[in-house]
Amino acid sequence: MAHFRRIYAMLRRRLGLQLTSLGPTTLERAVQRRMRALRIEDWEEYAQHLKRHPAELDALVEEVVVPETWFFRDQAYFDALAELLLHPPFCSAAPLRVLSVPCATGEEAYSIAITLLSCGRTKNDFQVVGVDVSQHAVARAEEALYGRRSFRGTDEEFQRSYFHAEGDLFRLVSRVRQTVSFRRGNVIDSLFMGGLGQFHVIFCKNLLIYLCGWARQRAVEQLHRLLTPEGRLFAGTAEISLFLDHGFAAVSERY
Ligand SMILES: C[S@@+](CC[C@H](N)C(=O)[O-])C[C@H]1O[C@@H](n2cnc3c(N)ncnc32)[C@H](O)[C@@H]1O
Repeated sequence: MAHFRRIYAMLRRRLGLQLTSLGPTTLERAVQRRMRALRIEDWEEYAQHLKRHPAELDALVEEVVVPETWFFRDQAYFDALAELLLHPPFCSAAPLRVLSVPCATGEEAYSIAITLLSCGRTKNDFQVVGVDVSQHAVARAEEALYGRRSFRGTDEEFQRSYFHAEGDLFRLVSRVRQTVSFRRGNVIDSLFMGGLGQFHVIFCKNLLIYLCGWARQRAVEQLHRLLTPEGRLFAGTAEISLFLDHGFAAVSERY
């Protein structure tokens, strides 16, 4: 279907998205939702609308991204981060800068901050920055109000220590929130990424699996640029080989 291919091409240019990573009907259903919202019945008309209104591409992006995450997803990564903090240059870096990209709704960035605070770091000697292309996800990260699914990797003690109940939801305490800032941005946008400054540690989990070849290459280049010379990147298990193929060297085979 020619209209479908044009819509996908625009999305691919923007996000570097690999269609097969989404499942066969995800994009089709996302476009249909946008067409209903705009009261457009015809695919050709939607493709034209998308071409003429740059903001519509942002709205479509929100429909296709997968902001699935939870606190302390893969606990071993946070244990390894705590271990890293014992050694130079990480033990003396002040402020220690850590990037969580993509951060989705913020649980990974906040888990990093909680790890650093638990290791005795204070709010003045580290900065955690979370980046995601989804405006909706970043807004939720800043709100720091979470439902039960965000706690699937943690116990009740964790919830009691760091959250206040608000109805059925749980708000993260301000002493953690104030150590993390969030930015909406695209990892393949070199101008945006360059403006973030350098980081001693980068968490990049569950991003490259959604990207096509050229976008993976560009994302890895951006992250390489952002990492300090002795910095460490924590990659998703399925993505380690993609970083190794594009210029990173393994320090551990697990992250
Ligand atoms: C599954 S979440 C990963 C969250 C977290 N890193 C984790 O592993 O739990 C994937 C996120 O990637 C974001 N994303 C997709 N393409 C992106 C891009 N080009 N730049 C920045 N974020 C992107 C989506 O918005 C989504 O929130």
